[in-house]
Amino acid sequence: MVTKILVIGATGAQGFPVVRALAEDRRYEVTIFTRNASSARSKTLLALPGVTAFEGDATNEKDLYEALRQVDGVYCNLDGFAIGELNETFWGIRTFEMAVELGIEHFVWGSLDYLLKKSGYDAKYRCGHYDAKGRVADFILQQKPKSTAVSVLTSGPYMEMLYDGMFAPRPQPDGTLVFAHPIGNGKVPMIHLDDIGRYARWIFDHPEESNGMDLEVATEHVGWEYLVECVRRVTGKNAVFVDIPQSVYFANSGISATTPAAWAQSKGASISGGQTFWENFAGWWSAWHDNFVTRDYAQLDRILPDRVRTLEEWMRKTKYDGAFRPILKDRSDQREASASV
Ligand SMILES: NC(=O)c1ccc[n+]([C@@H]2O[C@H](COP(=O)([O-])OP(=O)(O)OC[C@H]3O[C@@H](n4cnc5c(N)ncnc54)[C@H](OP(=O)(O)O)[C@@H]3O)[C@@H](O)[C@H]2O)c1
Repeated sequence: MVTKILVIGATGAQGFPVVRALAEDRRYEVTIFTRNASSARSKTLLALPGVTAFEGDATNEKDLYEALRQVDGVYCNLDGFAIGELNETFWGIRTFEMAVELGIEHFVWGSLDYLLKKSGYDAKYRCGHYDAKGRVADFILQQKPKSTAVSVLTSGPYMEMLYDGMFAPRPQPDGTLVFAHPIGNGKVPMIHLDDIGRYARWIFDHPEESNGMDLEVATEHVGWEYLVECVRRVTGKNAVFVDIPQSVYFANSGISATTPAAWAQSKGASISGGQTFWENFAGWWSAWHDNFVTRDYAQLDRILPDRVRTLEEWMRKTKYDGAFRPILKDRSDQREASASV
């Protein structure tokens, strides 16, 4: 029975609810894997009962070996934006291999939809930060090691990206919230962060059922007419959807057409001649626009009967008002770094 779980990516937007859900009743001890155990976010997690830290880098084999030796379960959410598709593909597989070698009882891979494969290998939908995770998921589910249960938790865009990130509105001087995105009639399978934590907990609590499973989760498929309707209803503010072509969206993004997909350029994060940021997110928006990613909501209702089921429920729960709230650690770190220059 798994009792001590290493969470890689623990201090991030996704890791936080995973650690909280695992630590809430002392059923598990949790070791957070972080590059900085003294950061504010590490300290918040270390204040939870049964949580300790291991300082290391997820692209360092010795660090990973040492951390894995001290636990019997792993939740691994590598940061594809920081380390790039190349590193994520390698380190995802390598971390799994080390976990099996060391007799880890349950290895859980935090994944995303393998868009390239799910689209029938259509380059229009190629998205490195999704494909790397999906590729690793496919590989590890094939291995069926004797002594390690293997599960994949495939999530999707956080609903919280409506505060900080790709889905956030542009507030106008008259208070109108403008959602200008290249989505057409497409829908995004958004997931509430807290529920990712609870699905991860369910996976560790139910190793017999979850072994070999790719649990694909979402709160609801959200289309943009529905989104603005919900915003109007819940916030009382005016909200409009402007369907823009990808070319306009990227031209307005403030990011240059030649910027590579992975923002951290250290450790060989970039693939020579590989996807730019625009190309990566063109694949991502195209997948939602063309609406081919599915979820089994009946299965999710069974696994988490009290899950948040709708965008409106999420908005009421989190008191959504369309204003910016920081969600991603990477972006907060970048903002702090540029403010201190
Ligand atoms: N944004 C979304 O909607 C969404 C949805 C699902 C999945 N994802 C995926 O989630 C991943 C990012 O996680 P997040 O959303 O939680 O982002 P985040 O809030 O920015 O957190 C990034 C996390 O990655 C850790 N990290 C980064 N580089 C590391 C390294 N070299 N070694 C060890 N830890 C490292 C950070 O830990 P320390 O700084 O403490 O070391 C932190 O815990 C990406 O792969 C992304 O594709 C994103």
